[in-house]
Amino acid sequence: MTSRLGLLVGGVAVVLALAPIPALVRAQGSTSALTGAVRSQAEGLMEGVVVIATRDGSAVMTSVTTNERGEYAFPRTHLEKGTYRIAIRAAGYVLPEGDRPVQVGNGAPARLDLSLQTATKDQLAHQLTTVEWWNSMPGTAAQKDLLVRTMVNCGFCHDMERVMRSRYTADQFLPVMGRMSTYAADNSSACGVGSARHCDTKTLGRVQVQSAAQVPTDERSKALAAYLASVNLSGGRTTWNFPLTPMPRPKGKATRAIVTVFPIPRQPSVIHDLTVDRQGQVWYGDSGWGYLGKLEPKTGKFREYETPQSWPDPRPGFKRIVGIQDVEADADGRIWAVTGFLGTKSGYFDPRTEKWTTFDMPAPVWAFLPAFHKGQSTTLWSTATTAPAPAPLTAFRLNAALGKVDVTTPVGEPGGRPFCYQVERDPHDNMICAGFYNSNIVVVDAKTGKSRAYPTPTPNAGPRRGRADDDGHFWFGEFLADKAAVFDIATGSIREFPFSAKYMSAYAAAPDHHGGGWASSTGSDRVVRIDRNGTTTEYLMPVYYDARKVVVDPSASRTTVWLPNKNLSQLIRIEPLD
Ligand code: HEC
Repeated sequence: MTSRLGLLVGGVAVVLALAPIPALVRAQGSTSALTGAVRSQAEGLMEGVVVIATRDGSAVMTSVTTNERGEYAFPRTHLEKGTYRIAIRAAGYVLPEGDRPVQVGNGAPARLDLSLQTATKDQLAHQLTTVEWWNSMPGTAAQKDLLVRTMVNCGFCHDMERVMRSRYTADQFLPVMGRMSTYAADNSSACGVGSARHCDTKTLGRVQVQSAAQVPTDERSKALAAYLASVNLSGGRTTWNFPLTPMPRPKGKATRAIVTVFPIPRQPSVIHDLTVDRQGQVWYGDSGWGYLGKLEPKTGKFREYETPQSWPDPRPGFKRIVGIQDVEADADGRIWAVTGFLGTKSGYFDPRTEKWTTFDMPAPVWAFLPAFHKGQSTTLWSTATTAPAPAPLTAFRLNAALGKVDVTTPVGEPGGRPFCYQVERDPHDNMICAGFYNSNIVVVDAKTGKSRAYPTPTPNAGPRRGRADDDGHFWFGEFLADKAAVFDIATGSIREFPFSAKYMSAYAAAPDHHGGGWASSTGSDRVVRIDRNGTTTEYLMPVYYDARKVVVDPSASRTTVWLPNKNLSQLIRIEPLD
């Protein structure tokens, strides 16, 4: 056991002065700070336009969405006095003169009506989400599946726009693809998304896994290269030879949420995961630069702590960064963290003493943490995926009270490629495994070590990440099936909830406190809510977002959902109004 205190104060603290939100009020009437109507010549009053307000001197973005009468309203609880820049998100439309300024005072609500103009095809190309590109592109289902249906696809580290704007021929694409495979999947976002950011050599040096890129020669890569060259701007094309078709804008309930985006003050940062403790404080891990961070949403203050010195990747010649991948708050308020993929360290940070306690894991472990249910604070499940074949996939339970692993058991995940993407547990500390490749959910009994597997109703659904509630319902994302799902441990049944569009790739899901759940979607910039009765609502985020974990605040009396936005180094908060 080793421990070391690292502290960063002052320099990174940013005060955003957001008012506390004791009782979230309906965003209308006299409680509003800013209202207006949004129209266009093409549609008249427009529903489902995301209106984004950013105060001068602040980087925090607050957004609301227009209702069926084309009206938007920012509640006073979310906009303090000041000068704001107003932007919009509505695929196919732009604000003719760019962002609009508006003064928000303490008295009567400010008013700003907006008239939108139809976007040019080039502007629309910049607005399309990755999923909208995938569904707009011509091509056979087999070609698109080749592009989309893999764990780390071309839309994983950056958006599709840079691929679609490229001029590479099929032959030229192969070395580019070879270069892409030298990057660490979860750190290369520091090299930017779209044309907004770029990679300097210093940053690039950190994100490269190995230095030498191999030009792929396999048939799949060749077929993918040929397909991409048929839809990008190669061969002298000045625009795309197919229509760009956005998904429908939000409607009805999907327009009723306030979304706040908090940029991480220290850049570059790579925020893979976050957790919310029982006081409503948001903790996040930086997998690129080795920090644990905390945001107090009530004050907007950030504070960061360095990871222990003992955590850099010791493997010679390996440039992969081992910062913090996943974080979880335990029942006693300690923040558990694991190092990046196949790291050998885990441990916890105690906010009271500001000290780390770290543990060496018996093998390189896959890096996603189980939840800590009521009363759970000393044990931690992980699985090792690198045991030499034919050794089975092994689960370890670290017991922090004993300072060692107290359970080692094979995971009986049936199928050719046993692999738990998410290791979760129920309130009795039985381990739950989301089997990505074999498409099943496996429960490992903590007492007997015996496994029982439950296949997903949709074959090859790719269960990815999830969370169990205190009653034994495990919510998870079916990445390869565009569905969220819930597994009932008592009955072994799995219920699935399809998303509205193909390729919306559910990454993670989590239960809310009302018998429903929330799920993140890779590439669509939408977050999906599933009500207790199974109805889904898809909220459009104000920004490009890279889907990771979705976390429901355990302390909030009204549902409040948090997401890390890895590729843009932001934390996103969603407050539904219904
Ligand atoms: C593991 C992360 C990752 C994945 C996966 C990835 N990229 Fe990239 N991509 C990057 C990074 C980092 C950059 C910026 C540095 C660079 O250009 O090498 C980049 C830049 C690009 C660029 C712009 C630079 C250029 O050379 O034109 C293109 C085009 C591109 N990627 C295409 C692709 C395609 C096609 C795929 C899927 C086969 C893909 N990427 C998958 C990380 C990734």
